[in-house]
Formats: sequence, C-alpha cells, structure tokens
Amino acid sequence: MTISNEDELDGLKEIGRIVANTLYAMARAMEPGMTTRELDAIGAALLERDGAVSAPQSAYGFPGATCISVNEEIAHGIPGSRVIARGDRVNIDVSASKNGFFADTGATFHVGPLAPSLETLRRDGKRAMHIGIAQVGTDKPLAGIGSAIGRFAEQRGYTLIRNLASHGTGRALHEYPEEVATWPTRGDRRRINKGLVLTVEPFLSRGGLWATDGDDDWTLYSEPHAPTVQFEHTVVATDRGAIIVTRPG
Ligand code: CO
Ligand code: CO
Repeated sequence: MTISNEDELDGLKEIGRIVANTLYAMARAMEPGMTTRELDAIGAALLERDGAVSAPQSAYGFPGATCISVNEEIAHGIPGSRVIARGDRVNIDVSASKNGFFADTGATFHVGPLAPSLETLRRDGKRAMHIGIAQVGTDKPLAGIGSAIGRFAEQRGYTLIRNLASHGTGRALHEYPEEVATWPTRGDRRRINKGLVLTVEPFLSRGGLWATDGDDDWTLYSEPHAPTVQFEHTVVATDRGAIIVTRPG
C-alpha cells in the first residue's frame, strides 16, 4: 500500500508493534525442550490478545500462527513436534493483520551459546537488513536495496538466497510492488514512491544460493545446505528515508 495520511500510518504502526512484540515475546520464551508447536501457541495467544489475525494462516492456510524454522530450515517452517535444543538457530517470522492493516517481521535467534562464526553471521544478517533499509526513500531505485546488500555480502564472503524476495505489504501480506530483490539485479527500473510500504528481509548465508522445497508444502531449505539467517522489518518510504513500523513498544 501507499500511506497517504496519518491515520493510515497509525493503523500500520499498531499492527507493526503487535507483530514485533509477539516476535520478541516468543524469542524470550524459547527454551530447550520446548516444541515449535508450543512456541507457536505463545505467539498465537499474543496475537489474539491484541486483536490481530495471523496473516499466513488467514491468507494462505498456513498450518500455524507463525513460521518457525530451525537450523537447516530457512523459512516457512511449520510449528510442530520438533523439539528445540540447546545450540539451535531458530528463525521466527510473524506477520498479522488488524483493522485491515498488515505488517511482517522476522528474526533469527539462537538457543544458548552459539559458535562464534555463527554469531557473526547472525549479527551480519541484521546489518544486511539495515543496509537495505537505508536505501528506502521517496524516488530512490527499488533495485538499490539489493545492490547495497549485495555489496555488503560480497565484501564479507557471504551469499544471498536469491529466490526469497522482499515484498510490498500493508493492505495484504503480499502486494504491489510484489517481489523486491535483496540481491543485485539488472533491469529493475522501478522507483520507490512516497509512502510505499514494503518489507526488507535479506536471507544472508554462508554458501546458500536458493531456497528449495522439502517434504511438506511449506518448509524451505537452502541449496546448497549452509547456515542462513533472515531479519525482516516492514518499513514506509518517506522523503527522509524509511520509517520502521515493526518495532516493539
Ligand atoms: Co515475514
Ligand atoms: Co515478508
């Protein structure tokens, strides 16, 4: 969507805060021995308490309120009987709607101590997202997001998953301008219009190039297999850069 007044911005910020609060409450509640279904139930209860509706569930019939992807799973993991163990890397992605506004956020956490090289990957994954967000503003090229993230990844010897794009959001989970690359692309001449609502969600990896399907209809894995992290915010383009709406508060 394109934000055209303060009421719309307030509506978007409200659901942005709800999904961010849900994400961080789930991360705090996470502990070894818990199943991903139990973790999802915590998220589902928080969304319901705040009057929000899970977006993947309502829009696509996803079998869970939130997406929880552990270790080799990189996205759209289905909450279930998998037990979270010490040392696991867990990506939680929360998207939901309230009063017709949608917001989408995600982050990769770890349970207990993580190998230092993986902690660096996690930190750099968050940096990659912020480098992309810094390219969001009125009249800036949409492809500038992927160019900047691509430079950062290349300098540090990382790869980017190239078929999991960022996207427009706000009035639906996925909408105009549809796919927004978080990797370098050619030929995308689109510009960011004032008030555009979109996500920035690079998947930074130590070798992964593509997301591929597994045995179920949802869970995605990196190809080739490699540690991969994702961080995601929903942002609004303004004349003075991006407003991040998925902040806890
Ligand atoms: Co998401
Ligand atoms: Co998204």
